[in-house]
Amino acid sequence: MQGGLFSPVTKADVGDGVARLQAQGYRILSWADPWFPDPALSPAVRAALQESIDAANTAHYTLPIGDLRLRQAIAEKCRRVNGLELDPARNVLVTPGSDSGLWFAMSALLEPGDEVLVPDPSYPSNAVNCSLLGAVPVPVPLDAADGWQLDVEAMRAAVTPRTRMVVLTHPNNPTGTVMRRERLEALRDLIVEKDLVLVCDQAFEDFVFDGIELVTPAALPGLWERTLSVFSMSKGHGLSGMRVGYVVGPDELMDGLYGATVNVVGATNTAAQAVAVAALSDEEALAERQADFEARRHEVVRVLGAVPGVKVTAPESGFLSWVDVSALGTGEEVAAHLLEDARTSVNSGEPYGESGRGYLRIVHGCFRDPAELTAAMEDVAASLRRLAEQRGLA
Ligand SMILES: Cc1ncc(COP(=O)(O)O)c(C=O)c1O
Repeated sequence: MQGGLFSPVTKADVGDGVARLQAQGYRILSWADPWFPDPALSPAVRAALQESIDAANTAHYTLPIGDLRLRQAIAEKCRRVNGLELDPARNVLVTPGSDSGLWFAMSALLEPGDEVLVPDPSYPSNAVNCSLLGAVPVPVPLDAADGWQLDVEAMRAAVTPRTRMVVLTHPNNPTGTVMRRERLEALRDLIVEKDLVLVCDQAFEDFVFDGIELVTPAALPGLWERTLSVFSMSKGHGLSGMRVGYVVGPDELMDGLYGATVNVVGATNTAAQAVAVAALSDEEALAERQADFEARRHEVVRVLGAVPGVKVTAPESGFLSWVDVSALGTGEEVAAHLLEDARTSVNSGEPYGESGRGYLRIVHGCFRDPAELTAAMEDVAASLRRLAEQRGLA
């Protein structure tokens, strides 16, 4: 799907294409938003929103870098979850969503012509932002056979005198991979040795399964001073419409971001920040979604894995399935088939990088009721089976 208003940008799921399809009754499994299109506000978050509307100060700005209460709540969460000790006055910047946080983090550190190592596949904005900034994205392929883990030796081989940054999506979108400690330590060694900086997008950190350790790269010795970490309230907390994200990092790197925020953003929406404070301590809501998504991923494997020519394994995190359909066609071809034949929108793998060729990204976190997702998967499986028959595979 191409969602750009004025150009065929490679970001997969923006624009009014989705809204048009929805209006025509298509199923949307291409929108990485928990329980979309069903409501996702928890009681605690709803109460905070109501309270904030009732409070007179909602109509006013907060500090451009974010309301102090939220920066304190972020510091507390980053201590508990990420092992980071932050000064809320110096090391936290609240942004209107993490897309803008990612943009500010990259734009503060990159000059035109700088090269940026981008694991492939990963979030399309990583490469798009480079291009918009006049920097050069250098894709470094990840391999299914290696569980889509970081290939630090390939990264080392890709370093040139112009290399400035590594941009990492961890856990990864679209593969759901949680990068392991030893790979991140090897990456740290490379970054320190080659005098690089790291931008690490942890938008999908909230749901990690199977007891896998979530390592925050910025917490590794030697990386804090070289890393900007980007977080989102959209994914785990289901608050994409509130537009709240945050960036954390060391004093010197944050100074550049503060300037950009004051001059460009002004401040993030005041009511949304109050909601974010409530959400960060709403462990009940997070636990409910974690249990739901942990179970659903196996349902996708059960239903889609039975189709000839389709390979799928349960993701290690989040609510996205990364499905190998290369025996049936390119991701674009198979996604187009599903749109027409099953009236279902999924993402083709190609916008996530060359290694996404022949893959689909299917958002299995859609719909509040898991039974609705199972019904959708059964329709998708039936449609893929028809395609497999056409290809002589079934
Ligand atoms: C990896 C990743 N980072 C950042 C974002 C941006 O999210 P938001 O701007 O809603 O925080 C997304 C959204 O899809 C994402 O998948």
